[in-house]
Amino acid sequence: MSNEQEQIVESVQTPWETTGTVDYDKLVDRFGAQLIDENLIQRIEKITGKPAHPWLKRGLFYSHRDLNRILDAREKGKNFYLYTGRGPSSNSLHVGHLVPFMFTKYLQDAFQVPLVIQLTEDEKYLCSKKSLTLEDAHQLAYENAKDIIAAGFDPQRTFIFTDLDYMDKLYPMALQIERCVTMNQVRGIFGFTDDTNIGMVAYPSIQAAPSFSECFPFIFQEKNVHCLVPCAIDQDPFFRMTRDVAPRLGKKGLNKPAVIHSRFLPLFTGPKMSSSGNPEETIFVTDTPTDIETKIKKYMLTSRNSDEEHSQSGGDCETDVVFQYLKFFEFDEEKLENIRVDYSSGCLSREGIKDYLVEVIQKLVYTFLLTDSHLISRK
Ligand code: TRP
Repeated sequence: MSNEQEQIVESVQTPWETTGTVDYDKLVDRFGAQLIDENLIQRIEKITGKPAHPWLKRGLFYSHRDLNRILDAREKGKNFYLYTGRGPSSNSLHVGHLVPFMFTKYLQDAFQVPLVIQLTEDEKYLCSKKSLTLEDAHQLAYENAKDIIAAGFDPQRTFIFTDLDYMDKLYPMALQIERCVTMNQVRGIFGFTDDTNIGMVAYPSIQAAPSFSECFPFIFQEKNVHCLVPCAIDQDPFFRMTRDVAPRLGKKGLNKPAVIHSRFLPLFTGPKMSSSGNPEETIFVTDTPTDIETKIKKYMLTSRNSDEEHSQSGGDCETDVVFQYLKFFEFDEEKLENIRVDYSSGCLSREGIKDYLVEVIQKLVYTFLLTDSHLISRK
């Protein structure tokens, strides 16, 4: 059994299914990604002339592949572009889905670069066990596009497409990729079995294709422009495969995409926030302020079981879901640090920290709702 297969057996972790705890170190220890360290963060600040995003400083975007090469190229005056995506699975995004998009917006603003966003209704259609029709999946992609636009990307520099609409431009690249990858390899990388439908087996090449600027001739005059992919850690298998085949594509090989990985926003009760989770324990960008308050107060777990226990031992900020949410969405370093100190000592109560989080998330969702595209989407 290959290393990668062992991983999948130990705890089910494929891009389509994550159960058990997510092992963030594995990517670095076993799969050759690199941790983002202080030097790299300083380098980003120097090149962009802007403060690094708090998620970099807090280790929430924590590892990468070849980010240094992108920065080297940039310093030599070479262009690069950003590529991210979303498999449309529900009518509106939840706050966990916002993470890669908010971070991508920071990167686009900081580096002033083009961005392409892939909406994979094909992927969701192929992997859904429910009776999702292709039309429904396509429609969901359009619904999600409105939420994604609301993240505030630069309209002059951003191209959003669905796979069904844009397949004629992706297919030549996908074919080249498909010829380079064997069944044996995808079985190892993605855990496919004899029962996997053959659409799924080919799908990784469709997600790989936009990593190559050849798919966007109307955006790029030059050939072989470097690509940087911001994504959650579960998407890394796609880009391991992509990077592996890149040198064999085109006449002389193509640049490997660089990748930057985020941790997951935790579930109300555990490590990963999944789209199939209970809607009562998921905050959607369309939730009302009251929905948000009820969900957090009623369903979000804290690290201690009772107020007495909390005031005696204090909160455990490493595991406490409420604190972890603040780590994502309270961007003010000083405020976050004060909360950490007060909550760990027990001075700040479980109720108190939840009140604080409710306000932070209400503000986040409200700011999101204010953007035009989002309002249009709900008419
Ligand atoms: N597979 C991703 C999902 O299920 C969607 C996706 C497509 C993506 N291309 C991407 C995610 C590039 C990150 C980067 O949501």
